[in-house]
Amino acid sequence: MLPRAKRVLFLAVAAVFMAAAIVVMTLDGAMAQDGGPVGFHPALGDDGIHDPANPGLQFLQQPDAALRELPQDRVGNYVNWVEALEGGYVDPRKGVKGETLMNVINMDVLKTKTSSMPQVKFPHKQHTAWLGCNNCHPAIFLPQKDGNPITMYAILKGEFCGVCHGKVAFPVTDCFRCHNTPTDSRRLTK
Ligand code: HEC
Ligand code: HEC
Ligand code: HEC
Repeated sequence: MLPRAKRVLFLAVAAVFMAAAIVVMTLDGAMAQDGGPVGFHPALGDDGIHDPANPGLQFLQQPDAALRELPQDRVGNYVNWVEALEGGYVDPRKGVKGETLMNVINMDVLKTKTSSMPQVKFPHKQHTAWLGCNNCHPAIFLPQKDGNPITMYAILKGEFCGVCHGKVAFPVTDCFRCHNTPTDSRRLTK
């Protein structure tokens, strides 16, 4: 048996460690739920795409090693690419020769046919930081406010915003990142 003083000290220390463990476990759980950083991106041999028996696999960088340093997101491939670009974490080559300049325009288009959902403020700024005008105009959208029959159904079918969102940009399940602008309350009373 330990002397009483030592026993009390031991119990106190154990209690602190257990509390710390619970905090860590809770944080861990929260992060896992948020699609948190550590070990989330499957290893190349486990991703169902790469052949785990291919000896060349060892020469490829693991996605987790590349992506874990980038700003995290809760959806998609768990990287917030807008923050990654704005924060200078990535500096994508603009063209094959790297001589192209991005034509970033700061113009929002407010889309108001959103029924009971908040309205959609489409930001040109964040899009033209990645894309050229001709990635969208005129094939996906005529460059004219409300000049396109955009509906949620069409988006979910992969048209309009759905050409990219859910494929190369954050998924359509992240409703409020697009439905980002409260509907003017006066509109509801009319
Ligand atoms: C990638 C952007 C984006 C995402 C994500 C998104 N929406 Fe939409 N949504 C739109 C746009 C754009 C419109 C059309 C607005 C307009 O034409 O004025 C729209 C329209 C709507 C409408 C109006 C009725 C209709 O069918 O068009 C509803 C309701 C709606 N969205 C619900 C949702 C819900 C629920 C989610 C999440 C599951 C969601 N949206 C996710 C962009 C988005
Ligand atoms: C990611 C897709 C995308 C890219 C890239 C893009 N646009 Fe647009 N643009 C839109 C959408 C969506 C609208 C709104 C269409 C609607 O309301 O039906 C729009 C609308 C416009 C409008 C009409 C605005 C108004 O008030 O009528 C102009 C002008 C325009 N874009 C110019 C540009 C230029 C210039 C570039 C390149 C520097 C560009 N866009 C890049 C998607 C894009
Ligand atoms: C040609 C591809 C493309 C189309 C079409 C497109 N987007 Fe995007 N969008 C992107 C990319 C790429 C990003 C940046 C990466 C990300 O956030 O996943 C982005 C980001 C965004 C963001 C995030 C901005 C921020 O500050 O975080 C919003 C909001 C958005 N898009 C709304 C829309 C809406 C609404 C439409 C349809 C009217 C649309 N997008 C159509 C490619 C596209």
